[in-house]
Amino acid sequence: MAELIKIGIVSDFEGGTIQAVDVLDERVLVANINGEIFAISDNCPHADLPMFEDGILLEGCEVECPWHGSRFNLQDGKCLQGPSTEDVDSYHVTLDGNDVYLHREEL
Ligand code: FES
Repeated sequence: MAELIKIGIVSDFEGGTIQAVDVLDERVLVANINGEIFAISDNCPHADLPMFEDGILLEGCEVECPWHGSRFNLQDGKCLQGPSTEDVDSYHVTLDGNDVYLHREEL
């Protein structure tokens, strides 16, 4: 069963920017792409390193890991370019008024 966790309000996520948000025990990358908010895990599966830091690249719906250049689709976490061969976890995000909720599956 999914757990809904409030991660902020709409104005916290400016269009075209990417942010790292701590959600319980993990860090999630959150981006507003053309008015829609998406969230994927910050953990790059290539070398198990956090992706968010100065230099993380956001281009359209793609994010590039600053360590070795793997690219992931922010909409679904799919790996688009290696060296990673694995996808990252992605999370459903919904709005309730101005509040932004991340749906996290209970472990
Ligand atoms: S740790 Fe992300 S590409 Fe290597």
